[in-house]
Order: sequence, then structure tokens, then C-alpha cells
Amino acid sequence: MLRSRAGTSGEGVRLGDIVLRNRLVTSSSLLGYGVSDSKFGYGMSPVALLVPLAEFGAVTTRTLTVEPREGHFTTRTDWALHEVPDLLRRYGTVLRGVDGGWINAFGWCNVGIDAYLRDYYPRTREQRTIISLGGFSAEELVTLVDRVNAAVPAGDIAGVEFNVSCHNVNFDFSAILQDVLDEAVPRSNHPVILKLSADHDYVRNARQAAAAGVAGLTAINTVKALRLDPRTGTPFLANRYGGLSGRAIKPIALRVVSELREAGVTLPIIGTGGVRTADDCREYFWAGADAVALGSATWLASYPGYVLAPLRALRIRRMLHAVRGYTPPRTVAP
Ligand SMILES: Cc1cc2nc3c(=O)[nH]c(=O)nc-3n(C[C@H](O)[C@H](O)[C@H](O)COP(=O)(O)O)c2cc1C
Repeated sequence: MLRSRAGTSGEGVRLGDIVLRNRLVTSSSLLGYGVSDSKFGYGMSPVALLVPLAEFGAVTTRTLTVEPREGHFTTRTDWALHEVPDLLRRYGTVLRGVDGGWINAFGWCNVGIDAYLRDYYPRTREQRTIISLGGFSAEELVTLVDRVNAAVPAGDIAGVEFNVSCHNVNFDFSAILQDVLDEAVPRSNHPVILKLSADHDYVRNARQAAAAGVAGLTAINTVKALRLDPRTGTPFLANRYGGLSGRAIKPIALRVVSELREAGVTLPIIGTGGVRTADDCREYFWAGADAVALGSATWLASYPGYVLAPLRALRIRRMLHAVRGYTPPRTVAP
């Protein structure tokens, strides 16, 4: 099994240039910006409020764009109690539970890079952070990288993750990928992680990334999906198509990680898709991942299901303990 050069040091786990506190991170967006918008925990999973986020290898932010974006949802956070039914109705048009997982189409709803760096990042300094960046041209990614460079000294975050694999924004990222890699990667003072999609030519994209000096890969983003109301044909989501996440995609994500290794890709890989238990993490390590990210299967639940948040939090703490003690096979790569 080919594997990247990954090691454990006193400062945490080093995956090439990416330094994490340990091998268990959180995947983009599931914990918002890494801190809640209000004292009621708005913007965070209720499960996350019961887990010390500083104990993760890193917390990956929601994808940030140059300008604030409503996407298919809303950036408003000042909801009064009587408006909550409207908020929940809107929420139901961008995130729905389906068999074995979730489909979502938030469409990069976010406050924008400047507001994040000003209002949220300073409140997350005790955590290790990966800042997720998204744009529709190489110029936008260059702007985002420059803003992060200006606000965050090298070494203060684990890296920036380029999200050029999201289905919810209805954009063909293959048309800009090479330009993004050529122009934005060399400018970054922070290690760049490229997030891959199982719906794209991920082996080719990984090779392009390696040639451009990318420090690591995240595999995978959500899988493009569709659900319809069987009686009316109305799509579940306002965007019609969405991204499928959760248990249903775990075998797909494992396949992608394994095929990347079989293809000779040696960049560090953060495996993500349907992770819920320490055994899931081990499966990803066996497939060839160097770290694992917790996403929707860990943080999302039905509204009644959130009653079990304390139990879920306990399971996550146990998982953290198990993964901290686990050392995957090292450095077989040439
Ligand atoms: C509600 C929701 C929002 C997401 N938003 C983003 C995002 O803004 N940027 C991104 O790169 N990935 C986003 N993702 C994808 C996750 O980070 C993750 O890659 C994907 O869900 C697969 O992992 P999982 O099955 O463990 O959830 C989102 C996923 C969900 C469920």
C-alpha cells in the first residue's frame, strides 16, 4: 500500500506540511465557522456544543467566498422566536434526511471571508483550524488566499482547503481547476488541501494537485444526488439537485481513497464520508487515509434525534481517545 509521508511529533501529527493535533478532524461546514453565532448555539450542531472542539486534529470551516453569499439559504442569524417556523421551513428546502444519509444544497451560504476573519476566526484561536475557500475563478481563489495570508500568520492554521468540488452551486469546476492550482496554490502561506469529488476524475485531479504543490487531499465531498416527492414529482430540495452525505457514501469514499493510493498518489489524504465510529476511522486508515473527518453522520440528526446529543458527544470523545492512540502504517511510499 502506497502511503504519504505522515508522522507523529510532539506538536501533533504531521502530514507532510499539514500539522494537525491528531488524525481526527471535522469536515467542512458541519460545525459552521467553529463557533456559534449566538448564546443559543445557532449555526452549530447541538452535538458540537457538548464536545471540546480544541481536541480535534482541526476544525474545517464552512466554505467562505470573497463576498457574503445567501446561497440557497440565508446568512441571517437574528431569528425571533415567532419566526422559527419560517426558519425551519427554509431549512427543510436545503437539507433533508434520506435513507442512509442527508442531501443538502446550501449553495455556499456564508458571511464572506472578511467577516469570518474579523468576527469568527479570533474566537476560534484555541482550536486548530482549516479554512475552506470557494470561488468561481482563479482570481477569486487568489483573492481569498491573499486575505487569509494577510490576517493569519503562517503556522497559525493547519491549512486552507480549496472547495472546487461542490455540486450545490451548479458550476463546472473542471473549467477552472488548473488555473486555480497554477495561480492560487503558490501564493498561499498556508498548506493547501484540495477537496475532491467522487463525481469528477479524482485521480487526474489529485495528480494535477500534486504537480501544483498542493499539500494534501480531502476525499470526498458530497455525491451529486436527487430525491423527489413520489406523489407530485416535486424535488425535495429547492435547488433540485443536492449533495448526498452520510452512511450511504462511506463505501464510495473508501473506494476513492483506495483508488487514489492504487494510482500511486502519495499526497496525504483526509478521508471523509459517513464516519461515525472508531471502526469507521480504522477502515479509512486501512484504505490509505492519513486522517479522517467527521461529517453529517456524526453531527446531524432529526430534531427529536438531537435529544441523544449527550450520548453522541460521549461517543465522539471515545472516538477521539481511540484515534489518538492509533498509528497507521508509515511511509511506504518511495
Ligand atoms: C449540511 C452540509 C453542508 C456542507 N457544506 C460544505 C461546504 O460548505 N464546503 C465543503 O467543502 N463541504 C461541505 N459539505 C461536505 C462535507 O464537508 C463532507 O465532505 C461530506 O458531507 C461527506 O462527509 P460526511 O458523509 O461525513 O458528511 C457539507 C455537507 C453537509 C452535510
